[in-house]
Amino acid sequence: MVQLTQALAAILLATGAVAHPGKSINKDILRRQAHLDHPERRSVQSCKRGLVDSGWVREQHMRREARLHELRVAAGFAKPHELVRRDPAEAEASFGEAAACTLDPESTEGPYWVTGELIRSDVLTGEKGAITHLDINVIDTTTCSPVTDAYVELWGTNATGVYTGVQARGNGDGSASAVTTNALRGIQPTGSNGTASFITVIPGHYVGRTNHLHTIIHHGATKLPNNTIQGGTISHVGQFYVDQTFLAQVEATSPYNINTQAITKNANDMLFNMAKQGGDDPVMKISLIGSKIEDGLYATIDVGVNPKARQMPQPVNMWTEKGGIPVPNSPWTGYPDSCRYCGFGTRPPKEKRVDEARDAE
Ligand SMILES: *[C@@H]1O[C@H](CO)[C@@H](O)[C@H](O)[C@H]1NC(C)=O
Ligand SMILES: *[C@@H]1O[C@H](CO)[C@@H](O)[C@H](O)[C@H]1NC(C)=O
Ligand SMILES: *[C@@H]1O[C@H](CO)[C@@H](O)[C@H](O)[C@H]1NC(C)=O
Repeated sequence: MVQLTQALAAILLATGAVAHPGKSINKDILRRQAHLDHPERRSVQSCKRGLVDSGWVREQHMRREARLHELRVAAGFAKPHELVRRDPAEAEASFGEAAACTLDPESTEGPYWVTGELIRSDVLTGEKGAITHLDINVIDTTTCSPVTDAYVELWGTNATGVYTGVQARGNGDGSASAVTTNALRGIQPTGSNGTASFITVIPGHYVGRTNHLHTIIHHGATKLPNNTIQGGTISHVGQFYVDQTFLAQVEATSPYNINTQAITKNANDMLFNMAKQGGDDPVMKISLIGSKIEDGLYATIDVGVNPKARQMPQPVNMWTEKGGIPVPNSPWTGYPDSCRYCGFGTRPPKEKRVDEARDAE
């Protein structure tokens, strides 16, 4: 067994995982712990020197400013000549610290990953909410350079906390209405600067979880003629979060404010707390494009990966022209009532993930 850190033990107690072992996601905690303990694990922070020296942090900072300005101009909140630049040295100094967005967690794909999604940047498909232009920067923490040939997959719930492409008792009201849309799901290549760009909404909350976006990083996948990807490997399975104070402001806007599902704050969300361990920061850096949330948001996050790592997330459904259809033998089928992965703690030994093998004993 791995040694649980004191902080992790505190999380287990605070979030009730110990009190309710039957429903717990202890296995995920152990997997995360094994990831943190792994001798080859490196965070984005450990690349600070290399990324600063190579000029990447400076370039990234300038691009972020330019992109936000571009969005402001497009929305009528600034004139083209009004770009005010902050000294990049500040960005270099603060890179990788708590306020910056560094991330290296291995988390769970959860019960609602739908494979076969489309390569597209704008994943709104008619969904309403706090429109968010999200840039995901992928960094190879083994070489401290941007990953330019990956596909980043992103999915999240709509503003009232329901996933598309899936019908399950735990997914909103459990109705079938969301199965026929692929809204808020998509895939983007990282491109020459290592950045995958999406337009989505801040996800809503749902029972048992704080607001979060899911991501999977694909390597070596082939683009098919119908704009989907096939094959390759997955190095990273993660989740992105929103600062709690800002989240409260988002939740007060329409249509978030009609979500009747119980709220779980970041501080009480076990997966959030796990993701914060080990110097990682899974919270997106978010700026207002205009003067209020309704004017749109610009968000960025840095994700550190080891491209050679092999994760084996399991999709519950596959997106087709007919909507989401079940993936045969998915261990998530029947979630949360009757499935092999129900409770997150029952994964059979034969399907162990690479990093999971380490905590088995
Ligand atoms: C979220 O999706 C569910 C299921 O399709 C739908 O009933 C609900 O209206 C959607 N929420 C918003 C804010 O559109
Ligand atoms: C990254 O590079 C692509 C071109 O490869 C460009 O379209 C995109 O705007 C760049 N992203 C950022 C955040 O600079
Ligand atoms: C795209 O093509 C693949 C391979 O033919 C197929 O399996 C998949 O269902 C198609 N996806 C969609 C959304 O049409």
